[in-house]
Amino acid sequence: MRIQPLNDDFAARITDIDLAQDLSESAIAEISAAIAKYAVLVFPNQPLTDDQHGDFTRRFGPIDKGLLLKTKRKRRLENPDVMDLANVDHDGNVLAATNVRNVSLVANQYWHSDSSFKVPAGKYSLLCGIDLPATGGQTEFADQRAAYDALSDGMKARLKGLVAEHWAYHSRNMLGGGGYSEDEMNNLPPVHWPVVHTVAGSGRKSLYIGIHTREIEGIWTPEARMLLSDLLEHATQRQFVYRHEWTNHDLVMWDNQATLHRGRAYELGELRQLRRCTTEAA
Ligand SMILES: [Fe+2]
Repeated sequence: MRIQPLNDDFAARITDIDLAQDLSESAIAEISAAIAKYAVLVFPNQPLTDDQHGDFTRRFGPIDKGLLLKTKRKRRLENPDVMDLANVDHDGNVLAATNVRNVSLVANQYWHSDSSFKVPAGKYSLLCGIDLPATGGQTEFADQRAAYDALSDGMKARLKGLVAEHWAYHSRNMLGGGGYSEDEMNNLPPVHWPVVHTVAGSGRKSLYIGIHTREIEGIWTPEARMLLSDLLEHATQRQFVYRHEWTNHDLVMWDNQATLHRGRAYELGELRQLRRCTTEAA
């Protein structure tokens, strides 16, 4: 495989590899080393079936089911490992822009880390672009290791030992609600993670925040929310961001423990189909 950095030590493009094949242990080790260093890997031209997508993902750890475990919504895809991020109904027709299912797709446009709202949280996400809108719909990634490194010594000291609450439905509520029942929401209670953690694989320190965070233990809510907002603003400055412009059948893999990401706006009435598999953090 050929690994070309897109920035010094954030995001790389990997070519000369076919992810549909049963890759050798050494190839998986090389990809693991690359993601430890770059945190985001772009594999162009990988038209995988859902089974191939799931099989490749599983090489990096057990599959995370995200919200699927806790919601009873009917699935369109057969493979339970693959999350369907498409704005279509069961027959493949594009949903009306105001369909309630679009709430969670729009919520993905907030900066977040996949499955930070559960235990175990998400580690690697592998997102396949299948049908992309003509304009918009890019995915941006922010390097939370570089963002941590760039904090002042005073802020690093302030954050030491702080623990934040992450709640899955916070982003949906910010958008006016996603039509989730009390039962669904109660089934996925908030979880708590350190605001700064050490990333498995690289050993680098990283911020771990995003739209799912709504409280910090021991800090008055307004003060905590403003601190989280200030941190997010710092952590998503352009110098920390790689913007991915999708081409059909790109597969983008990232480390949720080292990055934040967000989709960019697109015309909701236009077909956009992506599929994601995620592994659980250890
Ligand atoms: Fe996401």
